[in-house]
Amino acid sequence: EKGGHEYFMLKEIEEQPDALANTLRGHFESGRIVLDEQRMSDQDLRDVDKVFVVACGSAYHSGLVAKYAIEHWCRLPVEVELASEFRYRDPVLDRDTLVVAVSQSGETADTLEAVRHAREQKARVLAVCNTNGAQIPRESDAVLYTHAGPEIGVASTKAFLAQIAANYLVGLALAQARGTKYPDEVAREFAELEAMPAAVHKVLSTVDQVRELGRRMSDAKAVLFLGRHVGFPVALEGALKLKELAYMHAEGFAAGELKHGPIALIEEGLPVVVVMPSPKGRAVLHAKLVSNISEIQARGARTIVIAEEGDETVRPFADELVEVPAVPTLLQPLVSTVPLQVLAAEIARSRGYDVDKPRNLAKSVTVE
Ligand code: M6R
Repeated sequence: EKGGHEYFMLKEIEEQPDALANTLRGHFESGRIVLDEQRMSDQDLRDVDKVFVVACGSAYHSGLVAKYAIEHWCRLPVEVELASEFRYRDPVLDRDTLVVAVSQSGETADTLEAVRHAREQKARVLAVCNTNGAQIPRESDAVLYTHAGPEIGVASTKAFLAQIAANYLVGLALAQARGTKYPDEVAREFAELEAMPAAVHKVLSTVDQVRELGRRMSDAKAVLFLGRHVGFPVALEGALKLKELAYMHAEGFAAGELKHGPIALIEEGLPVVVVMPSPKGRAVLHAKLVSNISEIQARGARTIVIAEEGDETVRPFADELVEVPAVPTLLQPLVSTVPLQVLAAEIARSRGYDVDKPRNLAKSVTVE
């Protein structure tokens, strides 16, 4: 059943190109982005003036990625909220607010309650969900299904990547409705997304390298993860994977925050995973991160750098270098997350833990 793999999670990591391709399939028809279900009018979508993404865990991290894309493509304010916080605050919503509820299971109690809370205030709700007919899509005004297939591993991998892809589609659907992108631009962005399964397939060639690295890191006491821009949610996701699977202290930081506290944690031999942006994208982001790596390396950190292939500038600062293919900056989380999933799984396995069923956790959190 595990397709010759030692644990499901590894099989599911390798299924990610298919999860992405299946999630994108059928959503660009006759030159337009289409959702799966839409019980709201096109005018409602056009009238959206504010977006909230509500979710928990990894799904929340997919929402953080969405913020960068939706703000950029649609020029709409986007707030990303932990569902458990959103529902107990007094968020300001009205009928022109779109709440995007992201949930693999579609049954997460806090996300479902956030959806109900939003609808009571007349906001429109769009569900991004991996489970056909689950409660969250049933109670939503529009639905976009991710097609990652059933995910057995408690730690989300392929569902997470599929959520990111679906969130990009939500962004393009909004850009199309609002006219912030011309039809040919939407088509071009969709074509870039369609190239991602092949890019993720390419990253899978690093699995053996990263597993070997994981085995060497298994006795670390703590691991830090740094990123900027869309690399920041990737850092958070890498840390979450390590916490839930390897029971290790792990924290993700926005690299720009280093000097505001976290740099005090750096000591000799502490592994720090750095998610680099493309050197061909926003040059300033790249330069800032190179400088962050040199600072932590000078203080003794062991740097594990995820960088675009051919990025020679990071090489001198990388104690370990994992190369990922060049892709557009906004889409980078789809490739840079993959080595972090493998790393967490392999560290957990080396420590003798059950990678597919980590302690204290359930696949679907249906109680608050
Ligand atoms: O089913 P959902 O997407 O609503 O689940 C949300 C979180 O419980 C889930 O992503 C959790 O954080 C995973 N175990 C992370 O790997």
